[in-house]
Amino acid sequence: MKSAPLLKTERMILRGIEEGDADYIVTLRSNPDVYKYFCYPHKITKEEHIEWFRNQYIWDERRFDWMAIEKTGMKPVGVFGIKRDCKNHTSAEISYLLAPKYGGKGYACEAVRGVMGFVAEKWPCTSCIAEIHVDNHASIRFAEKLGFTLWGIHGLFAQYGRAL
Ligand SMILES: CC(C)(COP(=O)(O)OP(=O)(O)OC[C@H]1O[C@@H](n2cnc3c(N)ncnc32)[C@H](O)[C@@H]1OP(=O)(O)O)[C@@H](O)C(=O)NCCC(=O)NCCS
Repeated sequence: MKSAPLLKTERMILRGIEEGDADYIVTLRSNPDVYKYFCYPHKITKEEHIEWFRNQYIWDERRFDWMAIEKTGMKPVGVFGIKRDCKNHTSAEISYLLAPKYGGKGYACEAVRGVMGFVAEKWPCTSCIAEIHVDNHASIRFAEKLGFTLWGIHGLFAQYGRAL
């Protein structure tokens, strides 16, 4: 069973997701304006999430997911993750999901930079990618602000990437 390392940024602590975070994560992921851009665009249930957490996530050494907690109020601001196809893979895929009330304050940039810093230091990776639905303009803009550029398009998804 794995445990995600604790990461710290200027305004946040990123700690590994736990089973007790299910309600928060399911609520964030159940927003139709968010899940419509996912690969499997459906509303997930708490049961599905817990099943994934217990039977896949905690055993999967290829990925880490973190709850980002704002240091002053100790309130969660979103969920951020990183995964790779196998342990020796040199590219890692980033994911981000910010609670709407924290938008436009730079929290997501700060958290993703923290996650990329972890990858650059601890994994044998030389690049990060983000798979973004071609209509998800907010996410594309966000990735570009972080220095990602378009690497390719497959169907409805654009692959953005950047060197670490
Ligand atoms: C994509 C997403 C993370 C972008 O969120 P965001 O609020 O734009 O990103 P940030 O939190 O980094 O905030 C950046 C904004 O805060 C501003 N800002 C304010 N204070 C800041 C600070 N201290 N540091 C950096 N930026 C700051 C920036 O200027 C920027 O504003 P702009 O968008 O007008 O240019 C968010 O929309 C989201 O979670 N969407 C739903 C999930 C999703 O689509 N995930 C992607 C699947 S591929």
